[in-house]
Amino acid sequence: MTQFSRRSLRTALELPMDTIDDLIARPLVDLGATDTVGVSVSFAQAEAAFVAELGRASKEGRWEDISDRWSPLRGHCILDRIDRNWVQSAPAPLNQFAQVELQRLRAFVNIRLFASAPLQAETADLVEGAFKNLRIAFDKEIAGCTDAIDLGVSTTAWLGRTSGIIKLVTDNWLKPAKPELKRAIGQALNALKAHVEAVLEERRAAIQATADQAALAREREDLSLAGVVRPLGSRHPLRQTFEEIERIFLSLGYSVVAGPEMETPYYNFEALNIPEHHPARDNMDTFYMAAPFANDAQRKPSRGGAQGKPGAPPLLLRTHTSPMQVRTMEKQQPPVRIIVPGKVYRRDNPDATHGFMFHQIEGLAVDTDITFCDFKGTVEYFVREFLGPKVKTRLRPSYFPFTEPSVEVDATCVFCGGKGCNVCKQSGWIELFGAGMVDPAVYGFVNYDPKKYSGFAFGLGVERLTQLKYNINDLQLYFQNDVRFLRQFA
Ligand code: PHE
Repeated sequence: MTQFSRRSLRTALELPMDTIDDLIARPLVDLGATDTVGVSVSFAQAEAAFVAELGRASKEGRWEDISDRWSPLRGHCILDRIDRNWVQSAPAPLNQFAQVELQRLRAFVNIRLFASAPLQAETADLVEGAFKNLRIAFDKEIAGCTDAIDLGVSTTAWLGRTSGIIKLVTDNWLKPAKPELKRAIGQALNALKAHVEAVLEERRAAIQATADQAALAREREDLSLAGVVRPLGSRHPLRQTFEEIERIFLSLGYSVVAGPEMETPYYNFEALNIPEHHPARDNMDTFYMAAPFANDAQRKPSRGGAQGKPGAPPLLLRTHTSPMQVRTMEKQQPPVRIIVPGKVYRRDNPDATHGFMFHQIEGLAVDTDITFCDFKGTVEYFVREFLGPKVKTRLRPSYFPFTEPSVEVDATCVFCGGKGCNVCKQSGWIELFGAGMVDPAVYGFVNYDPKKYSGFAFGLGVERLTQLKYNINDLQLYFQNDVRFLRQFA
């Protein structure tokens, strides 16, 4: 089948009238019609020639002439010549195709000649018979319409205002009819018109529905097809530790807050009871920068040291999350129960246990009547939740300028259960994190009454805690983004 309607070709063609006789004198192959499309084009030319001749003839009242040339009732009419020169001389299997085309053309010509000829009917019965012929021809033609283009051609052929068959019948049968037959012809014509319109509409709807169905079928998604499988990523082990620790402290009524990674020396050191030349600053060397810290400079020129202004101390990348203790207490009165997850920075050369950036989670609880027991209970609860119920904890005296007393929290080694192994260097204990009771000196910086309030703080190293959980022996692995490493935590 061709991709387009053969009949649509006909409407597209215009042909000078005298050439049709030349064309039909020659075999199809000579005309270049060597395939079905070529044959269709030739027949379309013949049809166009007929339409043109019919139009001209009926305008000039020469119906007999055209009938002579085209009607198969006369010998040597154009249709017979087409049969002889085009159809019978065509090579197989094109001749079969041409045969079908000829039948189609015959029907086309016949029905128009019939509708254009004066009505040869003297009685109402004969009128009825004539209309019945039209109706049969119409029904046959419509039965062959399979697509919207075919249907459009037929619609124009029958209902077209200038040369549609209904119009031809009106002009040639109804108008010149004798008065006694006018009524019968009029009624039959109306009935035919109604039939034509109804059938065309019905057909149009059916073709549309089929087209819709076809479009639906074409566009339907095949849900049984295997999809594109995208490999699922996994949460980074550090992120998993963050979430686990947040879950534990949220369950204790803590809230999670975040603070700036770029800090003033005031919050990072001074307000935490680490004055300028304090030795505790030695292992907290960090990155300094001259970027302005507009908000804090304006809000606290005296404390923040007018950051960004000439001669002001430079800003730094925070060395721990502890500055958020001060920032939080400045903003709110007790009770305070917060944890602060985030990145911290130190001037360290990267190796298996050091990096210039790592992660901490700060913890701070301040209220009336918070004792060392609360502190110990909280720490023990956290360690058991995080490392497992069998783990024991111990506190070792330590020192931080902003806690008093200060401790290191140790846990029994998760790898040997306390018996002693390589990881715990045969001691049975591993160091977890630093903590302590908030030094009353810190309350002095935030206007808390040290007689009324007490509290504790801790600073968890996220890399370290993750390492203990998964026995990761190289800190750098966390940041190299090697999927072989990361996949193990999916
Ligand atoms: N900020 C300390 C550090 O980074 C840890 C810490 C936090 C210690 C809170 C005690 C209380 O080493």
